[in-house]
Amino acid sequence: MTVILGARNASLLILQDEFEALPGVEVVVCTDDGSAGRKALVTAPLKEMCEAGTVDHAMAIGPAIMMKFCAATTKDFAVPTIVSLNPIMVDGTGMCGACRVTVNGETKFGCVDGPDFDGHAVDFEELMSRQRIYADDERLADADYSQGCACHQ
Ligand code: FES
Repeated sequence: MTVILGARNASLLILQDEFEALPGVEVVVCTDDGSAGRKALVTAPLKEMCEAGTVDHAMAIGPAIMMKFCAATTKDFAVPTIVSLNPIMVDGTGMCGACRVTVNGETKFGCVDGPDFDGHAVDFEELMSRQRIYADDERLADADYSQGCACHQ
């Protein structure tokens, strides 16, 4: 098994030691700025491995944009690819519908039908659009929070 770990920079890498401690696992590290491992996106080594014909299955977990491009990379080589989606979830029980995703043209709920789906069948544009739906509110809440508590002033 090969694990391709990617992050913007070395300080944001996670689980590298844990993966490297696993027997039979090769770890390839990529960072956007080259501060650790290879200066590349994770899709670069993934594509090289697909071109070499060494990939039977792929699994992508992380930001939607990364999973989108991993799935696009493996699709060209007909490599089955599972993605683990992270839509906004509210109740996590299949009742609220907040986590709707479109897979193969069908509506699925990330919480009860997933979160793992066929990456070649996911509508990533819709997923990413829905993930941004509260972005303005999140910025306001973050700005409020950063001013600290005013309860005792
Ligand atoms: S989080 Fe509400 S239906 Fe999935």
